Amino acid sequence: STILVLHGPNLNMLGTREPEIYGHETLADIDDRLHNKAAEKGHHLLHLQSNAEYELIERVHEARAEGVDFMIINPAAFTHTSVALRDAVLASGIPFIEVHLSNVHAREPFRQHSYFSDIAEGVICGLGSQGYDLALQAALQRIHR
Ligand code: DQA
Repeated sequence: STILVLHGPNLNMLGTREPEIYGHETLADIDDRLHNKAAEKGHHLLHLQSNAEYELIERVHEARAEGVDFMIINPAAFTHTSVALRDAVLASGIPFIEVHLSNVHAREPFRQHSYFSDIAEGVICGLGSQGYDLALQAALQRIHR
């Protein structure tokens, strides 16, 4: 099966971006690890990071046509702003897990609302990049059910 990992704006800066909040790993470190873990189990993992809302939306539209089975999404700042990305995800009908590196509930009040959490299969936050690994593990189990 095929899993799509989507990373929202500024996540291309991981490694140097506020490392005390987001850690020292780069996005390539994370994507490579997820890719290898999925491949070991015979799955195909695709990923995209974009700073542009429309690119993420169009990727979700394509995912539907491509037959992506599950998505792992860190919408980053779009978590708190994007009705448009939410609607795209709903239109896709593809189940997903929402991931945040930081514990958004322990930060500024504006980070405590998500346009995705109520439509996600589950939400993981505050565990750093391990959140993506846990999401992948859960995604693979759900695909097999
Ligand atoms: C984030 C949390 C968001 O509030 C923030 O805008 C991000 C990253 C996280 O992974 O912790 O860019 O999604």
